[in-house]
Amino acid sequence: KTILEKIDKNQNNTDIIREAGRILKEGGLVAFPTETVYGLGADALNEDAAKKIYAAKGRPSDNPLIIHITNMKALEKIVSEVPEKAVKVAEKYWPGPLTMIFNKSDIVPYGTTGGLDTVAVRMPVDAIAREVIDAGGGYIAAPSANTSGRPSPTTAQHVAEDLTGRVDMIVDGGAVEIGVESTILDMTVEPPMILRPGAITKEMFEEVIGEVTIDRTLIRPDSKQVPKAPGMKYRHYAPKADLTIIEGPLEKVTAEINKRAKEKSRAGYKVGIIGTEETVAEYKAGDVKCIGTRADESTIAANLFGILREFDDDQVDYIYSESFDTAGIGSAIMNRLLKAAGHHIEKLV
Ligand code: TXA
Ligand code: MG
Repeated sequence: KTILEKIDKNQNNTDIIREAGRILKEGGLVAFPTETVYGLGADALNEDAAKKIYAAKGRPSDNPLIIHITNMKALEKIVSEVPEKAVKVAEKYWPGPLTMIFNKSDIVPYGTTGGLDTVAVRMPVDAIAREVIDAGGGYIAAPSANTSGRPSPTTAQHVAEDLTGRVDMIVDGGAVEIGVESTILDMTVEPPMILRPGAITKEMFEEVIGEVTIDRTLIRPDSKQVPKAPGMKYRHYAPKADLTIIEGPLEKVTAEINKRAKEKSRAGYKVGIIGTEETVAEYKAGDVKCIGTRADESTIAANLFGILREFDDDQVDYIYSESFDTAGIGSAIMNRLLKAAGHHIEKLV
């Protein structure tokens, strides 16, 4: 049985938070919002509790979990050392949409780290997330609260679709703010390496600690190398439809998408189109969804996973999407969109 509790930000929610904390401390599962996506939480230091996460999500057991904390004292307990560069990055970007990889300390069970000697740690800024973490004992393992292979959840409704009956409680704090998962920065290598792009970008790290590299498999996914973050090798965020990204000058892109949408519709298929405020009026066929505005790509990040889920619900056969600028949060948007498309992108000149 799954309890669904809605947080009212203008009210005192102590009872809900206390209940979430009790469930976590007893080894149960609580889904809760963070500023990036909803997380599926369990006590990270309780191996049996962490194992329940894998069962609920249908997640491969070699895919390690992120431990969520709320303060730097907690970090010192779960890692063997805190490199100086990590302190600088933490001062600037924690709490926030950032996960760092460290060498783990002995109290962190291998059931949480997927057998690795390193541990991923995140300090979220979302107020509800922080209250749940503290109430649950301060060390909460939480992957995204979706069934493995589905787009990450950005609302409690998405979590309920995937995990009702599989978790003890879902804390509904409304839609998340950012909409794509945290940036992952590996601090166990020199120079530090980005394993997953997110809202905190390479340039933002370099302002603070100098050179930072990016896992090559994120840039050239067809290379034989396996991504350094185990979870990045799976075809995540896969919509049920066949998704193609069309890149090029916008007028050509909209014309090409219209052409293909008409062909597929005529052949009897259901077609979805991902357009922007700047282009949606141009589309003449298919189920057109506006993902946000090119003038502010954070709006696109916020709607991406929700739109992929909507197309799943609508049971479309083909999806055509515009391509986006990779500056700022754009690198995270394009990383998730390319994965959803199985890297099917066509470039028009
Ligand atoms: O924004 C987020 O990070 C969300 C919210 C809930 O905090 N969480 C999240 O967790 O996205 P998850 O489990 O869906 O993704 C965690 C990623 C996976 O790709 C996993 O392989 C990688 O982090 N990871 C975890 N521990 C690692 C480690 N020790 N070394 C390398 N990669 C690691
Ligand atoms: Mg995930």
